[in-house]
Amino acid sequence: MAASMNIFFVFFLFNFMPFSECSRKDIFSTKTAYSWIYDIDQNVDKNELMTTKYNEKHCVAVNAQVMLRHGSRYPGYKDIRKMNNLHKKLKLVVRSPDYDFLRSWENDFPESEEKQLVDEGEEEHYALGQRFGKRLFDLFQESLDSVEFISSSKERCIDSAMAFYEGITETVLHEAYDDLDPKIDDNILRFHEICNNYHDAVENNRTQMIHHKKFKIQKEMKAVAESLRRRLGIEHAEIDAGELKLIYFWCTFETIILEQDHWCNLLTDEEKEVIEYHNDLKQYWKKAYGHQIIGNMACPLVKAMFTVLDKTIEDRIQNRTPRGNRAKFYFGHTETLAPLYAALGLFNDSTPLTDTNFNDMKSRVFKSSKILPFSANLALVLYKCNYEEEPVPNVEDFVVQFFVNEQSIKIPVCDDYLCSYKMVRDTYAKHIDQCNFEETCGIKKKHDEL
Ligand SMILES: *[C@@H]1O[C@H](CO)[C@@H](O)[C@H](O)[C@H]1NC(C)=O
Ligand SMILES: *[C@@H]1O[C@H](CO)[C@@H](O)[C@H](O)[C@H]1NC(C)=O
Repeated sequence: MAASMNIFFVFFLFNFMPFSECSRKDIFSTKTAYSWIYDIDQNVDKNELMTTKYNEKHCVAVNAQVMLRHGSRYPGYKDIRKMNNLHKKLKLVVRSPDYDFLRSWENDFPESEEKQLVDEGEEEHYALGQRFGKRLFDLFQESLDSVEFISSSKERCIDSAMAFYEGITETVLHEAYDDLDPKIDDNILRFHEICNNYHDAVENNRTQMIHHKKFKIQKEMKAVAESLRRRLGIEHAEIDAGELKLIYFWCTFETIILEQDHWCNLLTDEEKEVIEYHNDLKQYWKKAYGHQIIGNMACPLVKAMFTVLDKTIEDRIQNRTPRGNRAKFYFGHTETLAPLYAALGLFNDSTPLTDTNFNDMKSRVFKSSKILPFSANLALVLYKCNYEEEPVPNVEDFVVQFFVNEQSIKIPVCDDYLCSYKMVRDTYAKHIDQCNFEETCGIKKKHDEL
């Protein structure tokens, strides 16, 4: 009995392990689970972000502004329907016996749950809350009274905020609370929706997405479709770019939500990287560097973040008891975070991503899997240096550090990890002091309509 079980086990391993063991998971673009790009097992030290050194000076964290994308979610209903159609088609035309699952496969994602946060997404934010609480423990002083939680009106963002709150309260207050009522603010977290000029220049502009469109029929995408057809034994049907994307997305959705990898086995890692690039073209041109207006329309959020940092510094200089805000956590979307990256000039490749440079751009910095996975986050942490020696500081004593997905990144203006706050703020002054959202977006003010 034991022996036959063993043989069965070995058989099982050899048949199924190679796929899951060898395949990469950090290449699913905006549908990458956070734990696939961030090592959740790494050790986090209490207060590890509380202090730093800048030009031999000792610096202490005084404020954190953190923008987070919602966690892993269910697919949207349009994709669910498209996937059902694709499955029907493949069931009829696939001849290869290696993909038997197609016969019995059923779509397990109900339309009623479309785009809702899944358990994994909740866990991502819960753990993020714990880690932010731990790394900046002394900033909070065992209280969250001076901490704000702001969410977009979408349920997946509110649910992410609630999960994050449970995690951070557990660490900071030593007890997990689930009674958060986040402030809803779509003006700073869903600005893309109300920006008319953005719709004209980008969303409804047929030429804007030309590279994304042309890449669908580029040699790289055609090669992926051809190999897949051969592997599946399809003779009299085509597979197009939209269908490749669905297979790629169902691979990641089923892995995250159901821990199944049927669809993953249809594509090799190299093929997934081609589809990832196709999706990066969309993120790049539609949500980041494709048009000036994209970074510009994020100014209400840039302004909100920097205004708090300005206020923190002012209070310190005036030597007021620092009773004001200690941290703000904002919960939004790819459509919030990617324009924010563009406003701050982060992940801006010197060569634009186009339909013809897939190979040249393999080590691009604008890689959505790395910078825009589920629960992606950008933290601006303000430090005050010379804490002990100079009880009354001046603005030169403040420095800032940027973290993306909990990793320190270089700030463009000084090409370093720690930058003078003044220098950073000056670079973004356009988005802070001259933020005129109505004008940028071509929105008529209410009183103009009278
Ligand atoms: C549409 O997109 C093209 C290409 O990016 C751009 O040159 C043009 O200005 C855009 N149209 C509008 C109305 O902004
Ligand atoms: C992005 O990079 C390009 C090319 O290097 C540059 O012209 C542009 O100003 C940069 N954009 C931002 C917002 O930094």
